[in-house]
Amino acid sequence: MIDKPKATAKHVYEADLGPSSDLESFFSSSMLVTRTDFFRQLTLFRELEQLVLPALFRQETNRKKLLIWSAGCSDGREPYSLAMVTQRWFNNKGIAANFMIRASDINRKQIDVGIKGEYQIKVGELKKLREYDEFYQLIDDKTIAVNSSLARRINFCVEDITSKSFGAKYDIIVCTNVLLYYDKEYRKVIVKSITDYLREGGYLYVETIGSRYLKQIGFTRLKSGSHFFQKTVSNDNHSA
Ligand SMILES: C[S@@+](CC[C@H](N)C(=O)[O-])C[C@H]1O[C@@H](n2cnc3c(N)ncnc32)[C@H](O)[C@@H]1O
Repeated sequence: MIDKPKATAKHVYEADLGPSSDLESFFSSSMLVTRTDFFRQLTLFRELEQLVLPALFRQETNRKKLLIWSAGCSDGREPYSLAMVTQRWFNNKGIAANFMIRASDINRKQIDVGIKGEYQIKVGELKKLREYDEFYQLIDDKTIAVNSSLARRINFCVEDITSKSFGAKYDIIVCTNVLLYYDKEYRKVIVKSITDYLREGGYLYVETIGSRYLKQIGFTRLKSGSHFFQKTVSNDNHSA
């Protein structure tokens, strides 16, 4: 098994890391870097529903299981949003849903929130969440608990995306608002590392990395302006 290059303090932008600090303590101690929302990037969820899921099912109509990875998922709002859209898409198609989402983050406290599945809803999240109200229960006027049937679709784990080997091949990898904390050159190392786990034909959603680099390693933009990129050439043995 190939060891993944591990990020160090020098790869993180503007991080005030002392000599004994490490990435995990930086990302666990800073509230700023864990900011997330339900349905944070509306275009991600719209394109997932309207373009990516249909395209994957056109590729393989007898698909057994759809695998999605939310890499750097913070407290779980992102993978639960992905799950709501995907489950709704299957329901609308009348196809029995068969998908799993791996939700990983370096910050254990955030992962524990995701496993619990209870959230204080922020004002900006309400409108979109109301469209998906079959997937959660209201505990009080500001708190929701995600339904266990949806929670079962998600495997939460504490993991450093710069250092692990992730096993499975995913159909979709979403890595949003994570790379911006790393210097430009190291972003490429992370993207190369995680996309080894994307199957050919699968889709990566990513920002803050040049599309020229993605093209070099075999990716094609889904459409103009989109942050979804399709893996059109296998980069398994790519040395970029
Ligand atoms: C700003 S949040 C973004 C959360 C979510 N993706 C979103 O867009 O709403 C960034 C998350 O990336 C996580 N992160 C940063 N570096 C990581 C690494 N090397 N491995 C795993 N998670 C990481 C942080 O702990 C944090 O929870």
